[in-house]
Amino acid sequence: MKLIVLLLSLSTLVNAQNLLKDAIAFRLGASVNPRLLSENEAYRGIASNEFTSITAENHMKMMLVHPAADRFDFSKGDEIVAFASATGKRIHGHTLVWHNQVPQWMKDFKGDQKAWEDLLKHHIQTVVGHYRGKVAGWDVVNESFLDDGSLRSSLWADHIPDYIAKSLLWAHEADPNATLFYNDYGQDGHPKKMQAILNLVADLKSRQIPIHGIGLQMHINVDSKRTQIEEVITKSAQTGLAVHFSEVDVAVNPKNNPEFVYDEKASAAQMELYKFLFKSFQSIPMKQQYGITFWNISDKDSWLRGYFKRPKEYPLLFDENYAKKPAYTELTKSLNKLY
Ligand code: XIL
Repeated sequence: MKLIVLLLSLSTLVNAQNLLKDAIAFRLGASVNPRLLSENEAYRGIASNEFTSITAENHMKMMLVHPAADRFDFSKGDEIVAFASATGKRIHGHTLVWHNQVPQWMKDFKGDQKAWEDLLKHHIQTVVGHYRGKVAGWDVVNESFLDDGSLRSSLWADHIPDYIAKSLLWAHEADPNATLFYNDYGQDGHPKKMQAILNLVADLKSRQIPIHGIGLQMHINVDSKRTQIEEVITKSAQTGLAVHFSEVDVAVNPKNNPEFVYDEKASAAQMELYKFLFKSFQSIPMKQQYGITFWNISDKDSWLRGYFKRPKEYPLLFDENYAKKPAYTELTKSLNKLY
């Protein structure tokens, strides 16, 4: 009897540790698409079993959620929230203020500074208010800086001085319990951009503006320099804020070579980078580890194929058939102390 119990619990243990999410002590997330969630069983199964955090890839962005000045559409975002709640996951909100995926009516909007502030405050507070108590954290502001560290010109930067701080204050007012992030990409390889973000955080903290986390998108590729990635992670963690690898993918064919073959060598190089990324994340003090989120689930669903039209790209840990790739298994083993 005892032996059976022992064997059973051992097998549960071993099975459990076959899952990446069980080999780590922080949240593992994926961004998702509501159409795939409802239409594709394999996709839904993986989203459900493999992750402990969910981000909407697109459906909480301005363009989708706020299609007209007097109309919000939360239907698809709500579907994602319902799925995540039913399967017991944390929900990460993405994103409130961005220069991209802005609805046409906002682009056409005319008004003085006060009118722009009212527009943005209304947007932020309606969205955050709608998801209050459901969404744990928000990418409040996304991609404000250019690679040279200067502030990116955008509808928001051009009409609202200090829009980052104001956005954070408005979001905080609408949900004082939400973890508020500044989110950006490509700090590795662009030290001025990295520094601009660190300066922003220091400035916000000194003014007691509510900023709780840094989102590092981590759209990286096999040629990305580890030393640079490591520096970004270390410096971000030194701020004392929560750190989220918020949109991870590791491209293997960054130059979009049409002849590219995803062979063992490419797959091994990718796996090494994934290991490095996860191990580096573990070096962040535990209480600052918000989690690692993949940018969608299988290679087929990746924005690198869809948005960037790179058919020979294989950036994620599940293949076209929703099978675990060798990198998934290797990564899980390497993080798992029992192996
Ligand atoms: C991308 C989505 O993946 C695409 O489906 C969409 O067409 C464009 O946006 N940085 C971000 C994300 O913060 O919101 C972007 O998502 C990828 C880059």
